[in-house]
Amino acid sequence: MANHVPVDYSPAVTQSPIEIAFDGVTIARGGRRILENVNLAVERGETVALVGRSGTGKSTILKLVNRLLSPDAGSIRVSGRLTPEWDPFDLRRHVGYVLQEIALFPHMSVAENVAVVPRLLGWDERRITARVGELLDLTGLGGSDFASRRPHQLSGGQRQRVGVARALAADPPILLMDEPFGALDPMTRSEMHEELRRIQAQVRKTILIVTHDMGEAFAMATRIGVLADGALAALDAPGPIARSTDPRVRGLLLPLVEAAEALRSAAR
Ligand SMILES: Nc1ncnc2c1ncn2[C@@H]1O[C@H](COP(=O)(O)OP(=O)(O)OP(=O)(O)O)[C@@H](O)[C@H]1O
Ligand SMILES: [Mg+2]
Repeated sequence: MANHVPVDYSPAVTQSPIEIAFDGVTIARGGRRILENVNLAVERGETVALVGRSGTGKSTILKLVNRLLSPDAGSIRVSGRLTPEWDPFDLRRHVGYVLQEIALFPHMSVAENVAVVPRLLGWDERRITARVGELLDLTGLGGSDFASRRPHQLSGGQRQRVGVARALAADPPILLMDEPFGALDPMTRSEMHEELRRIQAQVRKTILIVTHDMGEAFAMATRIGVLADGALAALDAPGPIARSTDPRVRGLLLPLVEAAEALRSAAR
């Protein structure tokens, strides 16, 4: 395969501070309207968390961004360019994707899993080895024999880190994360949040992260979008979301409020 060729950034692309823009997006799946006239603009460098109950269309939104799905109405722009105008291969290396079910290749080592996209891009071996080392350090998997292990020789949390490392491998400016820490115990989860904030401080990406856990959204996001009934019921900074009186938002906050109250009353 040809050597790594950078994506062609036309001036119209780089001038836009909006990295992901949904304009009146409607989509049905399995005969049912999932999203109805959704508008969403994610600015460069933001971490936007999409929160909502199961089946509200969170994963659908991510799949629309990297064109695994196409809308029935409306349009989606990525870095200023309409998704149908992107070459699919360019789009997928421009947009890193951490899947809801971390799908590592079981027969490949951790290092080989992380190297998948750089190898597809035709990077030379020395560059790949250096990049893999860098990413394993970044995701807290450096310094041991992790690189040579197979996925089944890792804990669930370590596998999820490999998923994050793999999505970052070709340094995409945009990162989609679908419940990336869903399978983790609460403490490992918090550590991963900390780690992702550290990664985000080092390599500022535009991140769209999906979760059904409002606590996770508060831990990581600059803005939180609440999906309910096919629409964005709210899209705001954590403060206004925490103070929202909208029952669709309050419903998602309830577990946090209950946990905080239980802790307070136990500590009395
Ligand atoms: N391949 C498909 N065919 C038909 N319907 C689908 C398909 N995939 C998803 N759906 C439906 O689309 C709706 C939205 O699915 P989506 O995966 O976006 O939900 P989600 O918010 O990510 O849920 P979860 O929190 O459970 O992951 C659901 O009602 C689901 O049943
Ligand atoms: Mg989902």
